[in-house]
Amino acid sequence: MKTYNIAVIEGDGIGPEITAAGMQVLEAVGQKYGFGFTFNKVLAGGRAIDELGYPLPEETVHACLESDSVLLGAVGGPKWDSLPGHLRPEKALLGVRKALELYANLRPARLLPELKAACPLRADIADKGFDMVIVRELTGGMYFGESGRRFGSGGEEAFDTECYSVMEIERIGVIAFELARSRRKNLISIDKANVLESSRLWREVMHRLAERYPDVQYSDMLVDNAAMQLIKNPAQFDVVVTSNMFGDILSDEASQITGSIGLLPSASLGETKRGLYEPIHGSAPDIAGQNKANPIATVLSCAMMLRLSLGQPEAAQDIEDAVSRVLAKGMRTADIAAPGEKALSCTEMTQAILAELA
Ligand code: IPM
Ligand code: MG
Repeated sequence: MKTYNIAVIEGDGIGPEITAAGMQVLEAVGQKYGFGFTFNKVLAGGRAIDELGYPLPEETVHACLESDSVLLGAVGGPKWDSLPGHLRPEKALLGVRKALELYANLRPARLLPELKAACPLRADIADKGFDMVIVRELTGGMYFGESGRRFGSGGEEAFDTECYSVMEIERIGVIAFELARSRRKNLISIDKANVLESSRLWREVMHRLAERYPDVQYSDMLVDNAAMQLIKNPAQFDVVVTSNMFGDILSDEASQITGSIGLLPSASLGETKRGLYEPIHGSAPDIAGQNKANPIATVLSCAMMLRLSLGQPEAAQDIEDAVSRVLAKGMRTADIAAPGEKALSCTEMTQAILAELA
């Protein structure tokens, strides 16, 4: 029997609860389709800081490199907020992305018909629905540029630099164009080319690539306008490609208009099959340990893993369909329940998904 080796970073806050849900769902589809998993739990983030004094142990990086893919809950929390930048839990996540060279982050955002009522947009806009994928560059830009502190004429200063090479822009561009080609053939690249030199190079490279993809309808959009268009007319977006920083911000915005950030999965990919799969939400320390978290984003991240890294598209589809059916039956966790409506716990929602899969 084919057995996949998955490194699991449970992380902080609700991380252990949602990754448990993900592992249960993976086990269940494995049994159904005839493959197995070994889950190798490894330490990173706040828990690593508490136990070892630093966020990303070398063994964790090794285990991830040796795995078929990585499943991650979420890292961070107020407990570690006062630590210096290089010792924060978030550093673990950035370190894993970098060590595995996962430069392409795919963040689908789709308004499920069942969740129109949870969408905060005006009814006539929600009625049109939307289905987009944000392709976020993940190992470059301001997140990894030169940064530091120094003294200038105004006293202490701090700086972070946005730097992109042609190679970095091209490889994320190719992923986005190929993805657009497999969907509705529309790609919008988001930048700030009216102000930033790095955006002007970004735009030049995207335009050169566009010539190689004449079947894809390509356009540019400035990031401030994009933030507005996401609310005004989200249906216009199919595939969106953007930098690390703009993608971080816009993907939170896109997730919120789907009804809840608790629904959205993500995949981070590089040149190999191995990917990192995580919900796009954070560690939600306010509800940690209370069995209230929505496991759907993590469960759907597992579906993405099956499709994009493990070559099991049927099992992936099965999970996605099970989630849709559960939502269509009106089952809701607290984040997506209407006021006064009964909310399922994290484990109840997981059981409901497992029951659909059975
Ligand atoms: C995300 C998160 C991370 C990021 C944090 C936790 C470092 O916000 O995955 O979007 O900024 O990339
Ligand atoms: Mg973010």
